[in-house]
Amino acid sequence: MNSSIDDPINGTRAFKASMRAQWDIAASGWNASTTDIRAWLHKPTDAMCRMAGVTNGSRVLDVAAGSGDQTLAVAQAVGAQGYVLATDLSPAIAALARDNAARAGFAQVETRVADGEDLGVPVASFDAAVCRLGLMFFPDPLQGLREIHRALRPGGGVCTMVFSRPEKNPCLTILMSTALKHAGLPARDPFLPGGLLSLGRPGHIDTLFRSAGFHDVATTALDAVFRLPTVDHYLAFVRSSASPILQILGQLDAAAAEAAWREMRERLMAFTTRDGWQGPNELLLTAGRRARETT
Ligand SMILES: C[S@@+](CC[C@H](N)C(=O)[O-])C[C@H]1O[C@@H](n2cnc3c(N)ncnc32)[C@H](O)[C@@H]1O
Repeated sequence: MNSSIDDPINGTRAFKASMRAQWDIAASGWNASTTDIRAWLHKPTDAMCRMAGVTNGSRVLDVAAGSGDQTLAVAQAVGAQGYVLATDLSPAIAALARDNAARAGFAQVETRVADGEDLGVPVASFDAAVCRLGLMFFPDPLQGLREIHRALRPGGGVCTMVFSRPEKNPCLTILMSTALKHAGLPARDPFLPGGLLSLGRPGHIDTLFRSAGFHDVATTALDAVFRLPTVDHYLAFVRSSASPILQILGQLDAAAAEAAWREMRERLMAFTTRDGWQGPNELLLTAGRRARETT
């Protein structure tokens, strides 16, 4: 998001175009990791759905839905009488969400390519909304939350999932600091808009929810250890997703980039246990509600 400092409108446009292009490329890799991602996130995902108030028959908006793993969980919860609109900035990943929902037999799921900051859905048309590991990538997350607020009926609920602070997500911190060092770049403020940890500063996301108009705002921190057989499985996952790390290392020649990956591997080995590789993560689940209309 640094480019937006000099020219906010073109900077934001370029940032989103780059985000879309990266996720178009990473779509099949993210989708191929679904089994690992589900094992990592299924408990927080169930909690997210509960905290948003997703129930049988609900109409649910899924923002930054990716290839739709949580969309399927929502579709299961709302049942055949419910409805899920899964939206994402990347056409390639949204197409995978559509295919996955069709393969699972969920006719109640529709997908749409949409920027979360400009969803284009009718006002007050959803009972609940979720956004799993997407909001932190928005250059203007407050605008994203205002869009969700606008889309919810009075009394409707939302729950978002983002990473918490750097100390609680040491693998992400290691990846970023190693990549920056090898690229000869200075350390970055992890809380700058659009980054992986950008919404992790304590209290920040609650403030955004309230500024967007939500009531009954509450954040719960959840430990979510990423368990994989080895560190190499984790690195393969990082290399196949649209991590900002790839963008940084993309500026290096192949040998220099490989040197960075080697150092990351060495540092991430610290999380190898007798039961495989276990990367600590902390997630923030933030819930809020659109006020009921008073007449
Ligand atoms: C880490 S993936 C998470 C996908 C999915 N929610 C999951 O948890 O499996 C982040 C997603 O956010 C989407 N995204 C990033 N910026 C966005 C924006 N401004 N509007 C909508 N989606 C966006 C990306 O295209 C990508 O699919």
